[in-house]
Amino acid sequence: QPPVRDRLRIAIQKNGRLSEPARALLSSCGLSWRESPDRLFCYGETAPVDLLLVRDDDIPGLITSGVCDLGIVGRNVLLEEVSLADLEGQPYNAKELRALGFGGCRLAIAVPQAWTWTGIEDLRGRRIATSYPGILQRWLDDAGIDATTVQLSGSVEIAPRLGQADVVCDLVSSGATLAANQLTPVMDLMTSEAVLVGTTQPLDPARAALLDMLLRRLDGVLKIRD
Ligand code: PRP
Ligand code: ZN
Ligand code: MG
Repeated sequence: QPPVRDRLRIAIQKNGRLSEPARALLSSCGLSWRESPDRLFCYGETAPVDLLLVRDDDIPGLITSGVCDLGIVGRNVLLEEVSLADLEGQPYNAKELRALGFGGCRLAIAVPQAWTWTGIEDLRGRRIATSYPGILQRWLDDAGIDATTVQLSGSVEIAPRLGQADVVCDLVSSGATLAANQLTPVMDLMTSEAVLVGTTQPLDPARAALLDMLLRRLDGVLKIRD
C-alpha cells in the first residue's frame, strides 16, 4: 500500500529534449518550484505539486509503482512498457491522459541506403537492433514476421555498420542521425510526442482534486497553443 500523500508528484525528464518544454508547459499552468541543490526534486511553491527529475525510461515505472502520480514522457516510452506487459499477458496500470503537442518523432524501421526495400517481408530472418523490443515484437507478431531482435540501450544506429544487426528500429526526429549512419527510414511503427501519463488506479481525494485542477489548467493552455 503506497504511503498517503497530500501533494501531487510529477516525474519529468532530467536531461533531454523533453526537459525544458515539459517544465515550460507546467509553468504555464501556474506552477512554480523551489529547486533542491541536487536538482532531483523540485518542491512546488504556488501549489502542492512537486517534480521529480529522472531518466525518461524510468518514468512509467515510477507511476505504476505509485512513487509518482503523473509523468511527462514520450508516448514511445509508455507504449514500450504497455507492450512488454501485453506480451507477458499482464495488465498495465498507467495510461496516456493527454497528448502535449511537443517532442514529435516517429519510431521507424531504417535499412542501409544500399538496400532495395520492397516491403515488410524483407525483414524475415533479419536481425533488428532496437531500444524498443516490446513495440517491435508486437508489430512483427501482427505482421506474422519472424526476425531476431538485438536489444541495445543506445547508439542503435551504429549496429548495422558494426555487423551487430542488419537493420534498426529507432526514433527519428529530424532524420539527421539515420542519414549520418547511411540508413534510410522505410516504415513507421508509430508516431510519438510528449504525453502526460497517469495511473489507472484511483487517487485519494486530495490528490484527485489536484489532478483535476491541473488537467483543467492544462486543457486551457493546450487549447490556446493550437
Ligand atoms: C533519438 C534516437 C536517435 C535520435 C534521432 O534518441 O535514438 O539517437 O533521437 O534524432 P534525429 O532524427 O533528429 O537525428 P533520443 O536522444 O531522443 O533519446 P534517447 O537518448 O533516450 O535515445
Ligand atoms: Zn531515453
Ligand atoms: Mg538516442
